[in-house]
Amino acid sequence: LAQLTLALIKPDLTANRLKANRVLGHIQQNDFTIVERKTLLWSKTDAEAFYGEHRGKFFFERLCGYMTSGHFHALILEKPNAISDWRALIGPTHPPRARIHASDSLRSLYGMTDTRNSFHGSDAVETAKKEIRFFFPEFDFERWEQEQ
Ligand code: CMP
Repeated sequence: LAQLTLALIKPDLTANRLKANRVLGHIQQNDFTIVERKTLLWSKTDAEAFYGEHRGKFFFERLCGYMTSGHFHALILEKPNAISDWRALIGPTHPPRARIHASDSLRSLYGMTDTRNSFHGSDAVETAKKEIRFFFPEFDFERWEQEQ
């Protein structure tokens, strides 16, 4: 059964067109369908709204600074088990750990630091729905579900 997830290709990677195109290649080779995509530029308020659950953590300011540093891509990906498959493809949050434990993951290949980890993926069905609504309020989730 097909599932949707929300993926972000963060500003550092989006700025490097060659690498970003390679990543789109990885996405297609791993049988994800890109259902929708858009390129955004966030204000501080946008970043603080999306990452509200991390407010107060030591990396919050750093994270919001990173996510407002340039344009980035948001994608709706479709595949059976899209949520866990995308998280497996991007690998652990921390790129140095990804290089040890998941050396062919995208964060291992392209991530830089714990904050500048180049990718995001929703962690559960409800979060995916919420995050898709956040980035794609015009996307008709109910219609997509009916078509499955
Ligand atoms: P993401 O999956 O988008 O969700 C939260 C983000 O916070 C995460 O990717 C990283 O960019 C950042 N982050 C998470 N943990 C840490 C950490 N320990 N130190 C710095 N940044 C972090």
